[in-house]
Amino acid sequence: MTQDLFDTHEDGRLRLGDQAFVLRGLARDRAGALLEAVATVARCAPLRRMQTPGGYTMSVAMTNCGVLGWTSDRRGYRYAPVDPLSGQPWPPMPPPLRRLAADAAAARGFAGFEPDACLINEYRPGTRLALHQDRDERDFAAPIVSVSLGMDAVFLFGGHARGDRAMPVPLTHGDVVVWGGVDRLRFHGVRPLRDIPHPLLGSRRINLTFRKAG
Ligand code: SIN
Ligand code: FE2
Repeated sequence: MTQDLFDTHEDGRLRLGDQAFVLRGLARDRAGALLEAVATVARCAPLRRMQTPGGYTMSVAMTNCGVLGWTSDRRGYRYAPVDPLSGQPWPPMPPPLRRLAADAAAARGFAGFEPDACLINEYRPGTRLALHQDRDERDFAAPIVSVSLGMDAVFLFGGHARGDRAMPVPLTHGDVVVWGGVDRLRFHGVRPLRDIPHPLLGSRRINLTFRKAG
């Protein structure tokens, strides 16, 4: 990885790869509306810690909105139109969320992004997310847009093999990461969170991950 990939541009953009970028603070002004929308979703489809196929309980609590939701249980990972907790469709994706995802994607060369799935991840102190690829989607033409709210976290952005060295990327409230194209299948994860409470969310971090799944 050459040093210039880490350079922050004057407009607050940070480059992680040929088609992978951090947009510093893009969501900051809209955070109130986004969090209100998340709370509305979570009233219908509560955050829950899912089981992995290997029988572990994930440390991240999750829920979804949109036509499809990502779920995990002993039978595997998959997208499904129905919340297994309620038997009801996942709540619709609130317009402020959809708009932010489309704006972020368009700003970095992915015009016309129409996510059908928004995974909502809730982290608390000590919560981590192991390195993984997002590969449960039907095609990989659309990018991934990932929005950070609340406590700071260190995002890990790796290569195309699990063992490739991952670069640590500190993310703060309002930052948005977009990766697609040649970088669409890069391994990524999140280091265990430190407990530095955030004024809006206290000891929590909310991450929104937008994808075109179906
Ligand atoms: C994810 O990979 O699903 C979430 C990444 C993050 O929380 O920043
Ligand atoms: Fe992911």
